Amino acid sequence: MQMQPIPAVKGDYHLEDYEKVVESFDWSQVEEQFSWYKTGKMNIAFEAIDRHALGVKKNQVALYYKDDTRREKYTFKEMMEQTNKAGNILKQQGVEKGDRVFIFMPRSPELYFCLLGAIKLGAIVGPLFEAFMEAAVFDRLNDSKAKVLITTPELVGRVAIDNLPNLEKVILVGNDIEEDHVTVDYYKSFEQASKKLLIEWVEPEDGMLLHYTSGSTGKPKGVLHVHNAMIQQYQTAKWVLDLKEDDVYWCTADPGWVTGTVYGIFGPWLHGASNVVRGGRFNPEDWYKTIEDYGVTVWYSAPTAFRMLMGIGEDLIQRFDLTSLRHILSVGEPLNPEVVKWGVKVFHLRIHDTWWMTETGSMMICNYPTLAIKPGSMGKPIPGIEAAIIDDQGNVLPPNRMGNLALKKGWPSMMRSIWNNPQKYQEYFTDNGWYISGDSAYMDEEGYFWFQGRIDDVINTSGERVGPFEVESKLVEHPAIAEAGVIGIPDPVRGTIIKAFISLREGFDASDELKEEIRLFVKKELSAHATPRQIEFRDKLPKTRSGKIMRRVLKAWELDLPTGDLSTMED
Ligand code: PRX
Repeated sequence: MQMQPIPAVKGDYHLEDYEKVVESFDWSQVEEQFSWYKTGKMNIAFEAIDRHALGVKKNQVALYYKDDTRREKYTFKEMMEQTNKAGNILKQQGVEKGDRVFIFMPRSPELYFCLLGAIKLGAIVGPLFEAFMEAAVFDRLNDSKAKVLITTPELVGRVAIDNLPNLEKVILVGNDIEEDHVTVDYYKSFEQASKKLLIEWVEPEDGMLLHYTSGSTGKPKGVLHVHNAMIQQYQTAKWVLDLKEDDVYWCTADPGWVTGTVYGIFGPWLHGASNVVRGGRFNPEDWYKTIEDYGVTVWYSAPTAFRMLMGIGEDLIQRFDLTSLRHILSVGEPLNPEVVKWGVKVFHLRIHDTWWMTETGSMMICNYPTLAIKPGSMGKPIPGIEAAIIDDQGNVLPPNRMGNLALKKGWPSMMRSIWNNPQKYQEYFTDNGWYISGDSAYMDEEGYFWFQGRIDDVINTSGERVGPFEVESKLVEHPAIAEAGVIGIPDPVRGTIIKAFISLREGFDASDELKEEIRLFVKKELSAHATPRQIEFRDKLPKTRSGKIMRRVLKAWELDLPTGDLSTMED
């Protein structure tokens, strides 16, 4: 049974009269917010940092950073200087407009300086999550032909520098760095770098961000975003995050994922908000403490985290003063009605679900503050976005019919290409102008969208997107494994966990030790989040006559569902 809608609390939200806005809204109305509207000079990093540093906000804190060993803060003016210095280091190493600069390190102030510094030079930044292992790192640096990598002494061992002919420089952020013709000591260069930098002005369609993400087939795809995306990043941060002058905002995502760049960097700073970054792993106590210490007002997180906090219970919450919170949002996976209910109970606030993807570049379908929330629904398309449920032929379906969640092509933050792979890019679009998300959903009579699942086999585990093909390919590299099929299975906390069905080569016996060895193998080569939590050995896996593993049949086995049409299965 569905929960009653939770009405919006009347407040002075930016999106006061939604119906009126949606009638007349046009993305070009947003342009006058930016300095390039008058000067003609565009760069998203200038708009996010320098514009405020050169104005009345210069002494306002832009970045509050904390982890187990560091606690720092930087005003907009300081951020301008630090990002200029980082930009100068990169310039000295030959970085030019359009070059790919990758950043592979845990959250730290330096990560933010370097990311924005690179963008100031017109470079395209590829952020890599720190948990990535050798094979995952190699695929991304190789495909993008990265020229410069910024990483740490702890992580650099995972980079096969000798096998990456385009990689010219590796900048190490750490102590006791020995420089050579490739390696550069970040802190040493930083000392000497100038606080002044000539920003590279770009065209709206020039690239700035390359996020690799998984599909159900093939290697990860490089999703390219351009400077023009700032229009929608700014506007969604205004309407949906509801950011205002004096907000202290905390997005819990790592910049290795799109939420961590778009709403961990650009959204808040395009608004001149104070942005909290907490380094280190999830820790319930310290999360609440972060809210209390900084007086966080707007908090953007994910269902897995909320479910973990919910599981720990309310005693912990009682120990902290969380009354600064005024607005909470969620992204990345379905937000359970239970969690929305919990949010109302413990924070006295609604948790606003938002739906979007790496490819969409910013929020698309949301529970924005003035909307009544139907728990379990992703909300409605924001003004300027046309969403629909379409069938496989591209026809729009009426309300309450399940189908492909699709978006009318052409929103400002839409990805502009798949790196190196124009054909893959084309596959996202129908001939009649729809972008196909790969999600299935339905829309109710009131225009609310309800997520149903993925149409392809992409796995969403704790909000992290994993391509089964990538895991299967890695598994079959293990000497004991003949064939592997990987699926997602439901999990109360993580939403979905990864399960691998494996058939062994002749001469290998199934055992718990072997399972553990296989798990470690994937963890060491790919990443922890792509590691199968469950492994089941089978003599034979279901395959089509052309030899493709039928994940659909594995799922049916696992979940006791009907297997469906088996006519293409081999005997
Ligand atoms: O399946 C949808 C799910 O996450 C996918 C996008 O993953 P990624 O590109 O990693 O971006 C995640 C953060 C922007 C979608 O195709 N997803 C995202 N948000 C939601 C969601 N599923 C249900 N509800 C959501 N609010």
